[in-house]
Amino acid sequence: MTDLKKHFAVIGNPIHHSLSPQIHAVFAKETGLDIAYEAVLSPLDQFKNTMHQLIQQKFTGANVTLPFKKEAYQLATTHSSYASIAEAVNTLEFKENEIIGHNTDGIGLVRDLEQNLDTHLKNKKILLIGAGGAAEGVIYSMLEKTPSELTLTNRTIEKSNVIQNKMDVHAKSFDVNLNVIEIAKCPHQYFDVIINATSASLSDDALHMDPKVFHEGCLAYDMIYGKETSFIEQAKSQGSKISDGLGMLVEQAAEAFSIWHHIKPHTKSVIESLRAL
Ligand code: ATR
Repeated sequence: MTDLKKHFAVIGNPIHHSLSPQIHAVFAKETGLDIAYEAVLSPLDQFKNTMHQLIQQKFTGANVTLPFKKEAYQLATTHSSYASIAEAVNTLEFKENEIIGHNTDGIGLVRDLEQNLDTHLKNKKILLIGAGGAAEGVIYSMLEKTPSELTLTNRTIEKSNVIQNKMDVHAKSFDVNLNVIEIAKCPHQYFDVIINATSASLSDDALHMDPKVFHEGCLAYDMIYGKETSFIEQAKSQGSKISDGLGMLVEQAAEAFSIWHHIKPHTKSVIESLRAL
């Protein structure tokens, strides 16, 4: 690569659906930067090789999406505190002698909730459904906003217990009550914000949630975007406010953009235009 333009990519498998090239192109236009950003499909067993090819080609950075966020954490030689706690990386910076790994997913979710959806987390009761990488990646950022309670639930409850044990030291430092509850018992408690961080909606599976967990005063947030999931349908039927994860996608991209370029792009118009599509 001989041109002076900085090159970036998003790596995943599958990747054809990714909106990241479009989002970064809009940010670049708005901030007057001339960059190249492409989607790269990595074979499932070739993530490391794919990344080393990008580094050899003098790419400046990369976003990493499913299923490679844990491998990206292993690849990075230095980690931001968010990446260290989540043990997952979605944004990489390629420097002369190091690969810096960041995780902007939690910041993306919290900014979408607080700035775009006007749902502030301080002193709120939050239910987080799921105990995979998507859930783990956002817990610390939510704890930082000092909700009164963060309750974890998952189909396989043992995985929630593992996360609780790992994150409890952080919860205590923010004075947040970090609980685990069986999914069947969720309706017996009141939650202000209910977040679906499972991959059930990706495969169009129902979550088998009791609809009584939703109510008029709560916000039901599905991290998936671009489809009306059964989680969202149930929440709507109970009169809850709803949101998909499109805003989180744009906000995590904006944070990655500002890590790479030291400029914070505007996000609201990008979210609106993507939603209109
Ligand atoms: P990700 O990195 O996207 O979080 P993951 O690590 O495979 O992916 O985790 C997927 C999450 O979705 C898990 O919490 C999983 O529940 P289990 O731990 O019980 O497997 C949850 N999940 C996936 N399909 C589900 C379904 N049909 N019903 C309920 N939970 C589901």
